[in-house]
Amino acid sequence: MADLSVRCAGVPLRNPFLLASGIWGESGDSLAGAWRAGAGGVITKSIGSAPRPGYPNPTVETYERWGLLNAMGLPNPGIDEYPTEIEAARRAGATIIGSVFGGSAEEFATLAHRMATTGVVAIELNLSCPHAEGFGTEVGSDPGEVEEIVRSVVARVKLPVIAKITPNTSDPAALAAAAEHGGAAAISAINTLRALAIDVRLRRPVLSHGIGGLSGSAIKPVGLACVWQIYEQVSIPVIGVGGIMNAEDALEYVMAGARALEIGTAITFGGIGVFARLAHDLSALLDDLGISRLEEAVGVAHSKP
Ligand SMILES: Cc1cc2nc3c(=O)[nH]c(=O)nc-3n(C[C@H](O)[C@H](O)[C@H](O)COP(=O)(O)O)c2cc1C
Repeated sequence: MADLSVRCAGVPLRNPFLLASGIWGESGDSLAGAWRAGAGGVITKSIGSAPRPGYPNPTVETYERWGLLNAMGLPNPGIDEYPTEIEAARRAGATIIGSVFGGSAEEFATLAHRMATTGVVAIELNLSCPHAEGFGTEVGSDPGEVEEIVRSVVARVKLPVIAKITPNTSDPAALAAAAEHGGAAAISAINTLRALAIDVRLRRPVLSHGIGGLSGSAIKPVGLACVWQIYEQVSIPVIGVGGIMNAEDALEYVMAGARALEIGTAITFGGIGVFARLAHDLSALLDDLGISRLEEAVGVAHSKP
């Protein structure tokens, strides 16, 4: 079977499939469960300075054909409470990446510093939530701000820093380049696409927050284009995320330039067993294509004939 192990941002991964932030609960048990199910690593829910209840329901709507629309409002227990959950996942042996969100460079740096003491192997900065006022896309759409945030985090932590950037901008690759200048060790792309659904009978948006974020199959081509452009713009590794439902989706992202992959909505539709299925099917697909190591396939679609 083809070798799926990869090294990304200096972190060795048994396979490229990481649990995406915010998808499979936020408890230590659920992170450990994803690890036991075969994930190559797990990324925590994005954690902020203080507990946040999130938005009132409805916060998620499922669309069978193309994915999910969500506006959770970044619910989380806050950085003071969260380390006990990470400890539970660590006891299961999981490779854990800690995700944080903040409203300023200083807040990001303080949170990342705290997160770095919990035993995580890297920090992912959520610079890209499309529906949380004062956070995410609101601080992550300007290259200057992205560079400043990454730079202040890198100055405070020794761990690799991954910048998760937004597709809700005209030039995502410029955001990635700014993060690289700030010292990021890797880029993850993409977060959800800003989106809306209206309930025509109620004459109002389906989600309580109105605008939400779209994930799943529908956003795969957008994610691929972002990864493609970012790969050409930066020399640090790219982590692909957005609508990866099967092995072929995964290999498309790798050939576009991704060195690791994050899996989100596929879990909602296929259960946590999706990690074992993806690893098995990707190995088989690589065997069929005569590729013995996944790393050999990174970015190959860019080479000119
Ligand atoms: C319900 C839900 C909650 C999410 N929460 C977070 C979060 O806390 N932090 C973050 O960086 N991304 C969050 N995301 C975005 C995912 O990590 C991922 O980038 C996105 O869903 C695209 O991947 P997918 O199509 O495989 O789901 C969330 C997505 C969903 C659907």
